[in-house]
Amino acid sequence: MTDVTRVLRREHQTVLGKLDEFERALERHDAAALRGALEFFDEKLAVHRKKEEEILFPALGRHIGTEVGPIACMLEEHRDEADKFRAFKEAISGDGGPDGRARVRAAGRDVLSHLRDHIQKEDTVLFPMAERLLSEEEKREVHANMETVGSCCPECAQAMVEPNVQKAAPEAYRNFVARHPLLEKSWDLLREAESTGPLDERAVRLVKLGIALGAYREGAVRSAARKARAAGVMEDELHQVVALAASTIGFPSVVAGESWILDAIA
Ligand SMILES: [Fe+2]
Ligand SMILES: [Fe+2]
Repeated sequence: MTDVTRVLRREHQTVLGKLDEFERALERHDAAALRGALEFFDEKLAVHRKKEEEILFPALGRHIGTEVGPIACMLEEHRDEADKFRAFKEAISGDGGPDGRARVRAAGRDVLSHLRDHIQKEDTVLFPMAERLLSEEEKREVHANMETVGSCCPECAQAMVEPNVQKAAPEAYRNFVARHPLLEKSWDLLREAESTGPLDERAVRLVKLGIALGAYREGAVRSAARKARAAGVMEDELHQVVALAASTIGFPSVVAGESWILDAIA
């Protein structure tokens, strides 16, 4: 089954990381760092929005419409986002006195809360909806179209080319689901249930890795580690999960687990 929104979720992780940097720069009134972050948002968010507005939303819109409902809401938030960035740029190009600093901080906080909230809605509502409603053929078409747009950073570009689309499902899998269509449907529902809840993509991937380690399932550990990296989890965070597992599952198991992880992400 194609995970058509994976690249967009990965890009969200990059944006959220940049927002954290932006917040720290805002706290210390670091104008140079703020302008650097703005350049990133100007250039990279445009690429991300293009994938949503010109590719994913129209495809999903054929199922749920675009005039009212979640897509209309997200499009409106994109327009609000542009307004909030404009207000921030005006504030930062004003005078640097105490009032000016307060205006910069208020406008920056507005950008932060708006974007974080928007990303959470897409990750928890709109994207799961797309995964549920788009047919496999539509997902492949959406993914192929997204590939033509490019990515916001090397990590997201990597997520784009990683095998998140089963271009050629292994023959054994295809034969299995042909014989057991209800099992395939049940599997899809299980996967859908995994993305339902307050945990963000990174947290989900870390929990999945912890479970796989605890169950001592080599294939699941390898898969969870690869997916976690694709979701923006850093390598040292993976090692921390291994360390957390040590006191519960014992040294021999975590030594093996870490070797599977290192091999999988090499
Ligand atoms: Fe968006
Ligand atoms: Fe987005």
